[in-house]
Amino acid sequence: MRMSSTFVGALLLVILIQAKGQPGFISIDCGGEAGANYTEPSLHINYVSDENFIKTGVRGTIASEEISTHTQQQLWRLRSFPKGKTNCYKINITRGSNYLIRTVFLYGNYDGRNMSPQFDLHLGANLWDTVTIRNASITQSNEIIHVPLLDFIQICLVNTGNGTPFITAIELRTLTNDTYVAKSGSLELYNYLRCDLGSNRGYRYRADDYDRFWFTCDFKEVWTQLSASISNDSFFDNDYYPGATIMSTAVTPANDNAPLVIRWEPEDETDEFYVYMHFMELQWLTENQTRQFNITRNGELWLPNYSPQYRAVNTVYDLSGISGKEIKFTLERTENSTLPPIINAIEIYKVKQFNQSDTFQGDGLP
Ligand SMILES: *[C@@H]1O[C@H](CO)[C@@H](O)[C@H](O)[C@H]1NC(C)=O
Ligand SMILES: *[C@@H]1O[C@H](CO)[C@@H](O)[C@H](O)[C@H]1NC(C)=O
Ligand SMILES: *[C@@H]1O[C@H](CO)[C@@H](O)[C@H](O)[C@H]1NC(C)=O
Ligand SMILES: *[C@@H]1O[C@H](CO)[C@@H](O)[C@H](O)[C@H]1NC(C)=O
Ligand SMILES: *[C@@H]1O[C@H](CO)[C@@H](O)[C@H](O)[C@H]1NC(C)=O
Ligand SMILES: *[C@@H]1O[C@H](CO)[C@@H](O)[C@H](O)[C@H]1NC(C)=O
Ligand SMILES: *[C@@H]1O[C@H](CO)[C@@H](O)[C@H](O)[C@H]1NC(C)=O
Ligand SMILES: *[C@@H]1O[C@H](CO)[C@@H](O)[C@H](O)[C@H]1NC(C)=O
Ligand SMILES: *[C@@H]1O[C@H](CO)[C@@H](O)[C@H](O)[C@H]1NC(C)=O
Repeated sequence: MRMSSTFVGALLLVILIQAKGQPGFISIDCGGEAGANYTEPSLHINYVSDENFIKTGVRGTIASEEISTHTQQQLWRLRSFPKGKTNCYKINITRGSNYLIRTVFLYGNYDGRNMSPQFDLHLGANLWDTVTIRNASITQSNEIIHVPLLDFIQICLVNTGNGTPFITAIELRTLTNDTYVAKSGSLELYNYLRCDLGSNRGYRYRADDYDRFWFTCDFKEVWTQLSASISNDSFFDNDYYPGATIMSTAVTPANDNAPLVIRWEPEDETDEFYVYMHFMELQWLTENQTRQFNITRNGELWLPNYSPQYRAVNTVYDLSGISGKEIKFTLERTENSTLPPIINAIEIYKVKQFNQSDTFQGDGLP
């Protein structure tokens, strides 16, 4: 086993620890038939009906033309809440454990009204997000990494007067303790930016043991895609374990001498971000080849003279967040490097401060 090594100071960790996530999955098919308990074959994930987690709401089914284009069964049914302002699911969990909590929404014109609603999503009493259904045929999700303080969580749908709230699925995944830790607060996936760079399609379980959703992201930069075939056996994983499939592709700047830049402009400059970069050298380098680069963060040197390791995952992240008008990471080849920088995957989270209790106090409780 390789132990962690610190590259710059105490803030930045590059970790190489062998540990594999155990499936600790709770997968709820909202609006599923009473007693439903099935494995969705395309996902190898077991879903159960939501009957034991909520007492209110009405079961619905998406339009038949939507069923034909969405082949995964857990997307077919949903629960809507025409009555009451706030309706909450209550789900037993292990207090103090680290969870990835995901809500999934597919409107699919289930009510035949062709009116995509907007409503609020709460975790306990705290506003998590405002859900705006942008396209009736597209599956949307919200993800947050959160350590619950109680033996249960509540996921609440709040009617804000813009249509009937509904929900399609709820998925909880147990993550390794001490991963994705913010100094304070929970980490919400930002703009679907969990990116399998260099890939032309998205992934989830079983490519990812933790069933994190990996997307193809567009950072509007000119990159070249790289790929290699990586066997699971030779794969040396770490606590963030992005999986061989995710790590087998990467990007490099299309111009060999240009830096690789990842940037975005937050809606609010006080927003705080945590970024996890996953690296693996895909190419067997000859004696006269070097791939070495400096990583800077908003202009400050973050990780100097870094070389990804051949067929081993390095996850680079910071123990404190970053904010600003613009967030900019630059991977720039050093004077010694004969090869341009690469990056295999990146995850971007925004800090969500939940200052109220985990419990919703009010009407509509199950
Ligand atoms: C669903 O089925 C599986 C396999 O038969 C079983 O292990 C599990 O306990 C069931 N879950 C519920 C909630 O009934
Ligand atoms: C959740 O836990 C409570 C208290 O232990 C128990 O009474 C209840 O039946 C559990 N609910 C489910 C759905 O397992
Ligand atoms: C994570 O922490 C929680 C709370 O301390 C504990 O119950 C759980 O067993 C831990 N999980 C692992 C895998 O260590
Ligand atoms: C909604 O998404 C579908 C599938 O991607 C697409 O064909 C359709 O044009 C979109 N509709 C709107 C209104 O954007
Ligand atoms: C690696 O593991 C994944 C998930 O278990 C599996 O789908 C894939 O076929 C495996 N690849 C190889 C080369 O064994
Ligand atoms: C690296 O060495 C190989 C032979 O070992 C040679 O063919 C190649 O031209 C060298 N490349 C560079 C960039 O020096
Ligand atoms: C990379 O960082 C080192 C400091 O360790 C510095 O000496 C070097 O000039 C930097 N190279 C580039 C290309 O920024
Ligand atoms: C760059 O190359 C020179 C000459 O080979 C070597 O002395 C120096 O240590 C290298 N610098 C880094 C950061 O690897
Ligand atoms: C929670 O924080 C928000 C934003 O910082 C603030 O507006 C709100 O009043 C706080 N609520 C409580 C109960 O402290």
